[in-house]
Amino acid sequence: MKEKIIYPVAITIFGAKGDLTHRKLIPALYNLFIGDHLPPGFVIFCVDYLAVNDGDFKKDLLAGINEFSRSGRADEKKWNEFSGKLFYIQGDFLKIETFSSLKQKLDGFDKQNKKRGIRLFYYAVAPRFIEVISESLYKLKLCHQEKRDRIVVEKPFGTDLDSSKKLNRFLGKRFAENQIYRIDHYLGKETVQNILAFRFANYVFEPLWNNEYIDHIQISVAEQVGVGKRGGYYDSSGALRDMIQNHLLQLLCIVAMECPAAYKAEIIRSAKTKVMQSVRTMTMAEVFKNVVRGQYTAGMVNQEPRPAYRNEDQVPSGSNTETFVAAKFFIDNKRWNAVPFFLGTGKSLPKQTSVIVIQFKDSPNKIFKDDITPNRLIISIQPELEICLLFESKVPGLEMKLQPVNMDFTYQEGQSETIPEAYEALLLDVMEGDATLFMRADQVDAAWKVVMPILDAWKKYPTKLLHFYEAGTWGPTGARELVKPYAKEWFHLPVRKKDK
Ligand code: BG6
Repeated sequence: MKEKIIYPVAITIFGAKGDLTHRKLIPALYNLFIGDHLPPGFVIFCVDYLAVNDGDFKKDLLAGINEFSRSGRADEKKWNEFSGKLFYIQGDFLKIETFSSLKQKLDGFDKQNKKRGIRLFYYAVAPRFIEVISESLYKLKLCHQEKRDRIVVEKPFGTDLDSSKKLNRFLGKRFAENQIYRIDHYLGKETVQNILAFRFANYVFEPLWNNEYIDHIQISVAEQVGVGKRGGYYDSSGALRDMIQNHLLQLLCIVAMECPAAYKAEIIRSAKTKVMQSVRTMTMAEVFKNVVRGQYTAGMVNQEPRPAYRNEDQVPSGSNTETFVAAKFFIDNKRWNAVPFFLGTGKSLPKQTSVIVIQFKDSPNKIFKDDITPNRLIISIQPELEICLLFESKVPGLEMKLQPVNMDFTYQEGQSETIPEAYEALLLDVMEGDATLFMRADQVDAAWKVVMPILDAWKKYPTKLLHFYEAGTWGPTGARELVKPYAKEWFHLPVRKKDK
């Protein structure tokens, strides 16, 4: 159980009319409220440029909770209490007056509580507003108390190494590093946090967690959704920037990091950064050998027709943006020397599933005549939340025949409460000033360094080896070829019994 926050908290959300606020932030804050995790003195100022009246604004947020909250439809009494703390501020992010009126409200909140509260400024906005909002917060001294004031910056954090460095420098001149929370919501997922517990609270795996026993690792995040209404953003991003540079590389760091000396934010962040900095950078020739990119064509997903990516809303008809990436990375350190890490992600695939598979090496003792399926540890992040170890066992009977079986831990069975959403965990951490699950400037830069050779190679040769795959299939066949020397296929699904 986390300790209660003792200071009043003023949360300001820039981009209050956006999708993230509607689907994720307000439902998460509402769940924190009904779970009694917010302090009695809290307020949420929602800033956006659209003119909407308070009633309509709140109605829309309530609809978001009813549709997306893990706790289901909002309780009327609780909602009335919660919504009494919500205030809409109409204002242009480009105008200083918006921030002057926010300042009045924040000062008023402090006065009311007779205490200077914690201030959290959430940037749920397009990247082009990050600098201008920061500048105004800085100028009006809204976020100047290092110990109490924090900004939360959503991805994408820059679009390449140079822009990320530039943004880090810009923010660094206005805020202390420990005030900047760069969010990657994958780190807030319960199953992802549990990897730390699994690895470092169970010593039994540690002696095996290296190149002597591990054959390869697959980290795969498959999505059924296409780009939907986000074509404008997505086309300038692509799967590499949208998913690999952040979510998948973060997962890689957690799987591959050394045991930190203590469970402390800076120590854990340093251990992860060290891994990121050890990922081998590819030459251009290696990019075309080790990275497969694809784009979906028209097909059927979940029995519904899906248009080709190039025909999606706001996507140019000649776009070469990748909606699928599969890549082989190596980590140049003693523990992981020569162990490939396969990272794969794509949109318009048959199922939504995120799985990490640690495949162990074959037993050197070939004493059975049956083919042996190597041991496999499967960490399923979503939609199933489970950890499963695959091992060989004798088929009951008079013959010595083998079959793979599994030991399973499923969250739903083990936990009585419903599992908090990533945004709940992360928002609470920001309020408490715990940066463990957030990315530090050097880690973001290191992640860009890993993907830069790929971005550069694709920029130089925009169509070279760009594969097309039908929506509703598992992506280009090249991705399967990539893993072939190690496994028959990608383990997109937490399939336990089948093939090597
Ligand atoms: C976001 C990406 O960061 O993560 C989206 O921008 C993607 O394109 C989403 O769909 C996936 O998150 P989750 O939690 O649904 O796996």
